[in-house]
Amino acid sequence: MFYDAAKRDHGLPVDPLKSLIVPRPIGWISTVDPQGRVNLAPYSFYNGVSEFPPMVYFSITGKYGDDPTKHSRMNAEATGEFVVNIVTEALKEQMNVTTTMVPYGVDEMQLAGLTAAPSRMVKPPRVAEAPVALECRYWRTLEMPVDPARPDMQAFVVFGTVVGIHIDDAIIKNGRVDVAAFRPIARLGYSEYATVEKAWPLRRPDDPRFS
Ligand SMILES: Cc1cc2nc3c(=O)[nH]c(=O)nc-3n(C[C@H](O)[C@H](O)[C@H](O)COP(=O)(O)O)c2cc1C
Repeated sequence: MFYDAAKRDHGLPVDPLKSLIVPRPIGWISTVDPQGRVNLAPYSFYNGVSEFPPMVYFSITGKYGDDPTKHSRMNAEATGEFVVNIVTEALKEQMNVTTTMVPYGVDEMQLAGLTAAPSRMVKPPRVAEAPVALECRYWRTLEMPVDPARPDMQAFVVFGTVVGIHIDDAIIKNGRVDVAAFRPIARLGYSEYATVEKAWPLRRPDDPRFS
């Protein structure tokens, strides 16, 4: 089949777009507001964009009730900091709780029964239970084009520079991050997820670095 992306004339009962851009890593974004109140929410329009310096983004799609935008963006822009926690299979239920639309200032980390661990270089705490956390300094927000069909869903991409990285020693085996111990989850389409539990090597012919 082929369909016009703007018209979305695919004829399927559910728009397939998000089931095609898969698997998407999930950035579990912790921030604080100017009063220091913690916020935590998952974003699957999230990824790394560069290595030197290490930079990441998460993308806000749509609004949040009566608030001007989603809380993670409000806080990252207001305080200049955010933390990306990586969601593992063991944390999927807690992650799901933190997507709940709650009033500004309500601490979803507490709501999900998670432990706030202090970060080293930024104010927002990290999720203690997450084996990986990236402490980030906000860089800038990119305002994406407006779809005339859905002006309410305009996206804003929030970029940050990774300044500090936590890795639980338990997921490091023989000097490498062991994906079988890490077990990060990824977002698929519909209400589906996948667990990364098995890795297989494919060595680049021109790259002697990894065996
Ligand atoms: C796995 C998962 C991925 C999500 N990804 C995004 C995303 O990329 N962009 C977005 O705007 N909302 C996304 N959401 C919805 C937000 O988590 C939700 O709107 C949340 O309430 C926003 O919280 P905040 O206002 O505290 O930032 C996602 C939800 C889930 C469960």
